[in-house]
Parts: sequence; structure tokens; C-alpha cells
Amino acid sequence: MHTMSPSALALILLVLLASFSLLFRAFSPSESSRNFKKLPPGPRGMPIVGHLHMLGKLPHQTLAHLAKKYGPIMSIRLGSVRTIVVSSPRAAELFLKTHDNIFASRPKAQAPEIMSYGTKAMALQPYGPYWRNVRKLCVVHLLSASKIEQFKPVRTEEIGLLMNHLKMAAEKNEVVNVSKILVELLENLLYRLILGRGKNDDDDVKLKELVEEIVSLTGAFNISDYLPLLAPLDLQGLARRMRHLSKSMDIILENIIEEHEQQNRDHKSKDHKDFVDVLLSLLNQPMNEQDEHSEIIGRTHVKSILLDMVAAALETSATAIEWIFSEILKNTRIMKKLQDELKNIVGMDRMVNETDLSKLTYLDMVIKEGFRLHPVAPLLIPHESVEDVVLDGFYIPKKSRVLVNVWSIGRDRDVWGDNNEEFNPERFENDDIDINGLDFRLIPFGSGRRRCPGMQMGLLNLRLVIAQLVHCFDWVLPVGMVREELDMNEKFGLTVGRANNVFATPIYRLNC
Ligand code: HEM
Repeated sequence: MHTMSPSALALILLVLLASFSLLFRAFSPSESSRNFKKLPPGPRGMPIVGHLHMLGKLPHQTLAHLAKKYGPIMSIRLGSVRTIVVSSPRAAELFLKTHDNIFASRPKAQAPEIMSYGTKAMALQPYGPYWRNVRKLCVVHLLSASKIEQFKPVRTEEIGLLMNHLKMAAEKNEVVNVSKILVELLENLLYRLILGRGKNDDDDVKLKELVEEIVSLTGAFNISDYLPLLAPLDLQGLARRMRHLSKSMDIILENIIEEHEQQNRDHKSKDHKDFVDVLLSLLNQPMNEQDEHSEIIGRTHVKSILLDMVAAALETSATAIEWIFSEILKNTRIMKKLQDELKNIVGMDRMVNETDLSKLTYLDMVIKEGFRLHPVAPLLIPHESVEDVVLDGFYIPKKSRVLVNVWSIGRDRDVWGDNNEEFNPERFENDDIDINGLDFRLIPFGSGRRRCPGMQMGLLNLRLVIAQLVHCFDWVLPVGMVREELDMNEKFGLTVGRANNVFATPIYRLNC
């Protein structure tokens, strides 16, 4: 990705706007005197760019650092956008539970406007009846417990294929790019579930490339979202790239839809109806069957929803598995303890079954600890307030953007003690902290109305893949690499993933 970091961009803007900025500064009143009501505290910003220049390459870390000085409810300005940064469990509860109805909206952004058909999907949709209807539709037809159960054969097949691939690599003593194979696994799995793509479709490679680029552009820092007046200049060239990508993606989505329509016309039998079939069966009907006045589902709705699901599911799932696997790989003690648990529950004569998962209590602790240190969406997806509100004595104006710093909460010494930076799953041994969004110390899937609706599917994939990787194989790092020194640097994007791929050699350990 060749997108500039927020700080680099802010610097260019600063130069561009320097003279205007000085003028503005000389004649404008200070921020506090402009706002008679008391905003939450925050650092002093620059005219026009606000605090954009301060964000750096890893904004969640910068904001965590600033919150130590300014407190758990901090106010900054990103360009012209008032932004509230929330950095403690108590504050998160105030925004996502007590006042969830006020903060459950999403800010407008250029990426979904251009690439997702004017935002007809769920994840970046403002709060309201349309969002509620799409969410319900997706939960019922793709993300419910019964649907997830129905997809079991697809999961078993795809994970089985990966294990065979790794077994062959083990026989040849090959070093494997674990990051890459995890992305491929998730792509194969999720494209089959969501888009009903077979493995050998001609468009497959192109589809993967396009989705990867769309996800990366959606996560890119886009100056037009923060200084809308500059949007027509498209300073970073992002809007142009988005339009281009959107056209190519539209062709592929149309192909997918046409294939499904053709199969339905030919009455070709399938082992299950995929999500495209379901959406097509709802075409020309009201979004909410109980409300005939709700929006009628058209082809663009179908395409927008499909793209949204793929984008929301893919990178989050792959990134989460990659982080947790890296932590296990780094720590021999944890790998051994996990393997012992799997040996006791599953035995050495077979792979892990989905029915084993509920008995793997140490695995659950490892996953919680992984999410604590590496929440894949460290600032969640931005929320936006729909009305003015006073919280803890601070005035939060309508249309404020809210970033909940889950990364900072997960590493807070006051919450997690002196070993807060250490990967130590045992901290959850006698604790009933869950990750379902009810305990604000650990909210990797968010909480409240906007909580991730794909959580159950995401967690199941995660548990199964990690369990399988650790049960079927021992893992050796490439020559010259020391486990404890495995690099754990982050890279900021739509999700925060590893800066570098992780490589290791599998050694098969089962008797079958
Ligand atoms: C380990 C995997 C996953 C993680 C860590 C994760 C995390 C998240 C987070 C943090 C949010 C934002 C919550 C907020 O803004 O308050 C979110 C939203 C969302 N996620 Fe996930 N997610 C995962 C997997 C999935 C999967 C598998 C799907 C779908 C198949 C999915 C679909 C969505 C959607 C549609 C939203 C937007 C919800 C809305 O705005 O109403 N996610 N996810």
C-alpha cells in the first residue's frame, strides 16, 4: 500500500496551508473560549489540521500515550472532525452501554460511499431503521447459530485441506509462510460461505486481489474524511483508485450473481443455499418483511451487502489467528501446555473436532489473552454521536466521532497489574471475564448495538484453526531465529496486523 501515514500527510498539508494557518491563528479565539461548554480535556491542536500531525504510524499507541496525560475521556480534533477518545473500561461502558443509543451511529466516509454503492450495507451505515434491517437480515441468513452449524462441512473441508498441505510441507521439512496460508484459508472459507465461490472459479484470483485492495483502501487514512473541503482535490489520489477498483469489483460481483441466477434457472442442486442465493431470493422484496415501507432490496443492495460481509470478516479473522498463533509460537511453555490439553481431550490418533472445542479451557484463556494484547480493531470502527450530551461533566457535541481505544484498555496497568505487557493466559484462570462485550475490560468485538455480529462465526474459526495447528504440528522457527525474539511489531490499517509475516516449519505429531 502506498498510502501516506497521517503524520506525513498532515505535514504536507501544514506546508500547503502554512500562511493561511498563521493568519487564522493570529485572529481566531482559542478553542476553549469558542466552546462555552466544557469539552473533555486534550492536547492543544494546530489550526486546520487539529491533531492529525500527532497521530503517527500507530495512532492507537499515540492516543494511548496521550490519554495517560489527559484522561480516559479525551477530546482531539482530526482536521475539522471533533473526536472523542475513550480509554478506560468505565468510560467505554458510558459510551457503549449507558449512552449506546446516542453513540451507535457511524460517521460518513468516502470509501464506502464510492466502493460500497453509496453505503447500502451494514458496517459503515449510520444508525437507523435501514441499518437495523440489514443487520437483522445478515444475522438471520448468515451469522445465526443454526447457519454457522450448517456451514460445518465447508469448514471441515477447507481446514482439512490446509492440514494436508502442512503435512506435505512437514514431510519435506519446508519453511511455511504461516501468515500467507492463514489468509488463503480464510479467503477460501469465507468466499465459499458468503459468495458461494467454488475453488476453481476463473475470477477467484482477481476477486482476492480486489478485496485485499478494497480492504486496504477502506482502512487507509483518507484526508478527505477529515478535511471535506479538500475532498475535491483528492490529494492522495485515493478517490480515483477507489472508483477504478469499484468498477472492477462490480464486474466480478455481477458475474457471481449471474452464475447463481443461472444455476437457479437450471435447477442445479446444491448441498446448501449460500448467502448469495438467500439475498437473491429476497430481491424486489422489502428489506423488512414486517414493514412494507422499508427499502426494496435491489441488485446494488445485494452487491453492497456481500462486499461488506467479506471485508468485515476476512482481515479481522486472519489477523486475529495470526497474532494468537505468533504468541503461542513465541512461548514454548504455552505451546506445550496447549498441546497437553489437546492430547488429554482429543488424543493423538485424530485431528480436533468442533465438538472438542467447548472442553478446551486453556485454549479459551490463550485466545482471551491474545485479544487483550492484540485487538485487531484497536479503536473499534469509529462511532458517531447523534445528539449533544453531557458525560462525566464534559460536553460531547452532536456528530462527534468516538474512538474506543480497546488496545489501551487491554494494556492498562491499573486494570491488568504490573505484568500488563506480558502474554500470560493464566491471568484468566480464576476470572469470569468474557469477550462477548459484557465486561468492558476486554471488548475485542465491541459492545452494545454495534457489537460485531460475526463474533460467533469468527470465534469458531479462530478456535478451530488454532487448535488444529497446535495439535497436529510442532513448530520450529527458521534457522537463526530465537522464539523469544520473534518480532511482534504492528502495522496500522483497517485492522492492526503484524508488520511482518511469520514463518515456521511444521513437524507432524499425530499417530494417524
Ligand atoms: C476474529 C474475528 C473478528 C473480530 C475480532 C471482529 C471485530 C469487530 C469489531 C471490533 C467490530 C466493530 C464494533 C464497534 O464498532 O463497536 C466489528 C464489526 C462488524 N463485524 Fe466483526 N469481527 C470479526 C469477525 C467478523 C466476521 C466473521 C463477520 C461476518 C461474517 C463480521 C462482521 C462484522 C460486521 C458486519 C460489523 C459491523 C457491525 C455494525 O456496524 O453494525 N466480523 N467486528
